[in-house]
Amino acid sequence: MLSSVKAASTRTPLRIVAASRASSSWANVPQGPPDAILGITEAFKADTFSGKVNLGVGAYRDDAGKPYVLPSVRTAEKRLLDKALDKEYAGITGIPSFTKAAATLAYGANSPILENIAITQSISGTGALRIGGAFLERFWPHAKNIYIPTPSWANHGAIFKDSLLNVKQYRYYNKETIGLDIDGLLADIKDAPKNSIFLFHACAHNPTGVDPTPEQWRAISDAVKNNAHFAFFDMAYQGFASGDTDKDAYALRYFVEQGHQVALCQSFAKNMGLYGERVGAFSLLAADKAEKTRIDSQIKILVRPLYSNPPIGGARIASEILNDPELNKQWLAEVKGMADRIISMRDALKDGLAAAGSQKKWDHITSQIGMFCYTGLTPEQVGELATKYSIYGTKDGRISVAGLTSGNVKYVAESIHKVTSK
Ligand SMILES: Cc1ncc(COP(=O)(O)O)c(C=O)c1O
Repeated sequence: MLSSVKAASTRTPLRIVAASRASSSWANVPQGPPDAILGITEAFKADTFSGKVNLGVGAYRDDAGKPYVLPSVRTAEKRLLDKALDKEYAGITGIPSFTKAAATLAYGANSPILENIAITQSISGTGALRIGGAFLERFWPHAKNIYIPTPSWANHGAIFKDSLLNVKQYRYYNKETIGLDIDGLLADIKDAPKNSIFLFHACAHNPTGVDPTPEQWRAISDAVKNNAHFAFFDMAYQGFASGDTDKDAYALRYFVEQGHQVALCQSFAKNMGLYGERVGAFSLLAADKAEKTRIDSQIKILVRPLYSNPPIGGARIASEILNDPELNKQWLAEVKGMADRIISMRDALKDGLAAAGSQKKWDHITSQIGMFCYTGLTPEQVGELATKYSIYGTKDGRISVAGLTSGNVKYVAESIHKVTSK
């Protein structure tokens, strides 16, 4: 058989190639759409204007517009190099010194429930969400409905759909007020079938930058509790929102205090700048130690056939930073530095719009929090910003404030004014 194919291929190679293509098992695989955000980066790269600005990507940039490696990360890397550690596999749930410190960072050093936290290292925040989705699909004892905010990070829907959960939405953002639709949100929590899963962005909501106030979180906690729902927190920006890791964990810790059995996804992509290192954690609060042990065992059973065990490099860096008091202090100051630069760029953008002569209200630029600003620009205005002014944001009007610098913010403000003043 093999020799006849070989003989035929020497006679009519093209026809054989064409025939094998026609009978390909993958002939029915349709072309998928490109990733919306990566598409912006492509367009940005292709733009030859020297003053172009990329406000599409959710990654921190320094005031020169360059990627930023935190000095605490550099120090941790050097120390790790000096230790000349081996490259053996981590356990299925990762490096214990990292996961213990990650839980402490999220739930608080004095939290009485730390010993009941089942936790695993994950492939950053996305991996944590995916493990969480898989765990809920396997063990949530009620209808597997998960409610995500409208809008939400674009990947949430895809992650939970692939986890075979029923993805539904709750109201979150009010276009008219460019703020939180707290009444709609509470009504949707009340109207959802009892025992539903609700996904909350713990802080720095992506894409809107609109977070509930502490008072609103308390009302949300009551509504979740009164309807026997389950709170699933995604905390991809701890420290990045306010500059204070404790303050940003308010919602999570309040829910725990109120007796909710929460799940939590953590990412160290943004707050440690460890994007490509893929450092994160998934945790679940168990009722007691025995339950925690059972949950831990099932998380291992889930993770083992997925990727066996997580990568060690980034988690070692994070562990070094979280567990060394001096380095930890330095890191917290660096997180605050990043948050403060973003906050100062919000002020500069708002001031720049006023200085450019804009009569519109732009208060939401400074009242929103975290890396993103939901500007309220229409898709047409975003398109015009790109084609006429080489400023790239996402179609929904979201801009990454981290992409603004003292060098480009005036230009961005003037351009936004031009596209919004017609
Ligand atoms: C809300 C939210 N959750 C989770 C993530 C996960 O990111 P990563 O997998 O890079 O940690 C992101 C990243 O942008 C995010 O915005």
